[in-house]
Amino acid sequence: MAVTLFEKYGGFANLSKIIMAFYDKAIDSDVIGPFFDDIDMRRLVDHQTKFIASVMGGPVAYADDTLRRVHATLAIDRGSFDEMSRLLRETLQEFRLEAADVDMVMNEIEARAPAIISGQDR
Ligand code: HEM
Repeated sequence: MAVTLFEKYGGFANLSKIIMAFYDKAIDSDVIGPFFDDIDMRRLVDHQTKFIASVMGGPVAYADDTLRRVHATLAIDRGSFDEMSRLLRETLQEFRLEAADVDMVMNEIEARAPAIISGQDR
């Protein structure tokens, strides 16, 4: 049986490390950092780990409706979305995921853009 990316890259234990490193970058970003000023980061890392695990074929499901609901009031524009995607790609590369696997995850993220972007570019 084929191994999922979730298993290949160490399951929840390793994924949560990757997601924590990713949010360190997001918080430091001039473009998107301010969005996270008043957010409970521990909860966010939990949920984001679950989301990425679901994209990688792990034992969880994460509905696009949830993504839509939590981002709806944030007026996220394309530029912010792209910054977030760029930082996630950079993090996955730093954790030595193979290039094809990085692309696969990033394609899944891009497919969710309509659920996340609701604001106009400034
Ligand atoms: C690039 C693709 C993105 C993905 C896959 C993503 C995924 C997620 C997930 C899984 C959650 C947790 C939702 C929950 O509570 O169940 C979340 C929350 C959140 N996201 Fe995103 N997100 C993305 C882009 C962005 C961008 C660009 C911003 C802002 C610039 C952003 C800001 C936030 C904030 C502030 C929360 C916390 C909302 C709250 O707890 O009130 N996200 N995101």
